[in-house]
Amino acid sequence: MRSDTAPAIRLEDYSPAPYTIEAVALDMQLAPKATQVHARLTIRRLTDTLPGTPLVLDGGGLELTSLSVNGVAIPVESYTVTPDKLELLSPPSEPFELEIGTRIDPDANTQLEGLYRSSGTYCTQCEAEGFRRITYFLDRPDVLAVYTTRIEARKSEAPILLGNGNPVESGPVPDKPERHFAIWHDPHPKPSYLFAMVAGDLAHVADSFTTRSGRNVDLKIYVEHGREDKCDWAMDSLKRSMRWDEEVFGCEYDLDVFNIVAVSDFNMGAMENKGLNIFNDKYVLADQDTATDQDYANIEAVIAHEYFHNWTGNRITCRDWFQLCLKEGLTVFRDQEFSSDMRSRAVKRISDVRLLKSHQFPEDAGPLAHPVRPRKYTEINNFYTATVYEKGAEVVRMLKTLVGADGFKAGTDLYFQRHDGEATTIEAFLACFAEVSGQDLSHFALWYEQAGTPLVEVESSYDATAQSLTLQISQEIAPLPGQADSKPAVIPIRFGLIGSDGADMSFDKVEGAEVRQDCLILSQRRQTVRFSGVSERPALSLLRGFSAPVKLHAPEKDQDLAFRAAHDSDPFNRWQASQTLATQSLLRLVRAAEAGEELVADSVVLDVFGSILSDGSLDPAFRALSLQLPGEADLAREIGKNVDPTAVLKARDALRAALGSTHMDLLRAALSQRESGPFDPGAEAAGKRALANQALAYFAASDASDAALIVNDLFDRADNMTDRLAALTLLVHGDLPGAQAALEAFRNRHETSSLALDKWFMVQATAPLSSTLETVRDLAGHRLFDENNPNRVRSLVHAFATGNPSQFGRPDGAGFSFVADHVLALDARNPQVAARLLTCFRSWRAYEAQRSSHAEAALQRISEAENLSRDSRDIVDRCLQ
Ligand code: ARG
Ligand code: ZN
Repeated sequence: MRSDTAPAIRLEDYSPAPYTIEAVALDMQLAPKATQVHARLTIRRLTDTLPGTPLVLDGGGLELTSLSVNGVAIPVESYTVTPDKLELLSPPSEPFELEIGTRIDPDANTQLEGLYRSSGTYCTQCEAEGFRRITYFLDRPDVLAVYTTRIEARKSEAPILLGNGNPVESGPVPDKPERHFAIWHDPHPKPSYLFAMVAGDLAHVADSFTTRSGRNVDLKIYVEHGREDKCDWAMDSLKRSMRWDEEVFGCEYDLDVFNIVAVSDFNMGAMENKGLNIFNDKYVLADQDTATDQDYANIEAVIAHEYFHNWTGNRITCRDWFQLCLKEGLTVFRDQEFSSDMRSRAVKRISDVRLLKSHQFPEDAGPLAHPVRPRKYTEINNFYTATVYEKGAEVVRMLKTLVGADGFKAGTDLYFQRHDGEATTIEAFLACFAEVSGQDLSHFALWYEQAGTPLVEVESSYDATAQSLTLQISQEIAPLPGQADSKPAVIPIRFGLIGSDGADMSFDKVEGAEVRQDCLILSQRRQTVRFSGVSERPALSLLRGFSAPVKLHAPEKDQDLAFRAAHDSDPFNRWQASQTLATQSLLRLVRAAEAGEELVADSVVLDVFGSILSDGSLDPAFRALSLQLPGEADLAREIGKNVDPTAVLKARDALRAALGSTHMDLLRAALSQRESGPFDPGAEAAGKRALANQALAYFAASDASDAALIVNDLFDRADNMTDRLAALTLLVHGDLPGAQAALEAFRNRHETSSLALDKWFMVQATAPLSSTLETVRDLAGHRLFDENNPNRVRSLVHAFATGNPSQFGRPDGAGFSFVADHVLALDARNPQVAARLLTCFRSWRAYEAQRSSHAEAALQRISEAENLSRDSRDIVDRCLQ
């Protein structure tokens, strides 16, 4: 029987709860299969609430074991209870204490939401609505309470007991010699989604940090025994984050301890619980042998992200889940800025935009599109999306561009001061910036309300006699489900006019649009903008720094792109120019592949790539990024409809081979420059590795007779994971001699590191080979595969579905069908992970007819399954709508 679609929750229906919970005293008697939770809630009726109004608490699969009001057990006729709801029919008018006993089973919790066990460690995940799986509660972010948590467990099972806030007391339990307890108190009122506790047999590393006002904070990272030596980078990143947030945003830490726990079973990346961050161990553990440079960068960013939530999310939280971007968009913006300051700003910006375009743009162009602040949802866990996070961060970035750096600082200062301790909204956030800058931001606020990526089209003409440049600019969002037409937005376009000498030109005045410094502010559907006093026809550099999350179409000749790839003073646009050039060339190759013609690479692309490769004055990390071709999925997105992923793969392979063969000597030279010496995970050394491995990739694609030999040699000699994995990927994806032996060597070497093994699964899942689906099927039955571990599922099934366009999108539909099988199998155990996997079908309508009908059939099969979770039901319904 088909499960019914859950009712939608709507922003316009928001109203505060009739009661509030001011204090929570939890007592948790831990046992693997029967944990007893006792909650004492101090509840107060709000003044607007009529006496006698029922109190309805949320539950999630709970078993009630006791219930009393002000110390007296209450009669059965005065409440109703189900596993998902507890209702007091006529609660006291005066403040009262409600005591609730519940029994839960952490071992049976395969959803990894609420209290569960990961490798024997008890841990929690409460965002968004997991707290209701621990006790009945007003489980909504606008109910802020002070929590005291007593945790009790068998000492041998859980010598470490951690809660939110500061430790208060701990010791043996009288009369129970095998048990002990700890009490934690968090003085900062918080919503239930920020509650956490951890209990287990864990090792830790310790450090300390002194805040600028002199508070000494004990820092600890808890991990499974034997992993202590993999925490250095995370700890270092934490201390740098704490300092940076004081210096840049004026945010200081506010407890005596800050604890991080790394667990191996986690649905998402990490969680900012007050004083007790819980992390997917992928974003904590790193050493030279098992972590890539990308892993190091991710750890730095995620540690910072969760730490920064202490102010943007915890001290100031969201009124309701529609406001999720209030904390996530802002906190992503903050972590991006942190990484920019720790690394190369240009390289960070390019990486972030690549991510935005590859993850957020397709989301925003298909059936799962939604505004940065959605107006309705059926399952909130499905809204932890690239749109809320990454586009949300872009909106904050545009806000900063519009109000200026000083205005932005003044605005965040006001926000922190005015809303500290509150659960608030996007309107309140924007009001701070409007107030300090004197700007009217009401039109700008549309960015939070409207889904879809604006397409900005620009046509330029230069009049030499009048010395004027005219731009015809339009903006438009293609129709989306539930959004037939769109309104024009405020779009800041940073720009430059580049003269023939390569320098930015000056101009006298601009008519037809507001210009602030180097930024054109668009606000209308169509605008004609005229620059006068322009002494020669310029090369137009638009959208510098990717100043707005839009698709820009400004037709430009290959020669102009090549010129800007060499001369644009904005490093982002320099990169973008080479990418656009490569994209145009690849799209021509795709058309040739579809027509069965010979694939001949454009010489201008070969030349530009050659110049980048040989330009030693450029930052190696920047060169590595500039040498990377747009991915298969990027090209599919550009093509937009009737996509044949096989043709895309062929085109890309042809250009890679041409680049490798054309520049064989330069590549050989780059390879020989590989540095040796002690390993340094810093950005500079990582950039050099990235460049060397990019060169290796082209060399492997070339017709050099010793290519396979050299890749095998580098695989054998690699002394770090970045280089080892780069070589392994080339061997496996290129189906080169030695690939199988290398896979076996890799598995033997990393048999005991599950994070490294994830990479072993991922390399095989993403190989663009016709044999891959069979390999992936075998791997799903491998003794090292674990369907209950989200990281492992992601490294095999998710990697196949999202990182292997030609094989997931096989013309026979077998790739779709395989992933659908996994969605269905997972759905019963872990709906969040299943629903996330299911989103890989979101662009199914963009395939050519045969493939899209196979994809639709796979979605139909999922849709017809019995007892589908609310999470997967929501995604499949929206995909098919
Ligand atoms: N707040 C976390 C972060 O972004 C993410 C938690 C998401 N959890 C979920 N179940 N949807 O840092
Ligand atoms: Zn976050």
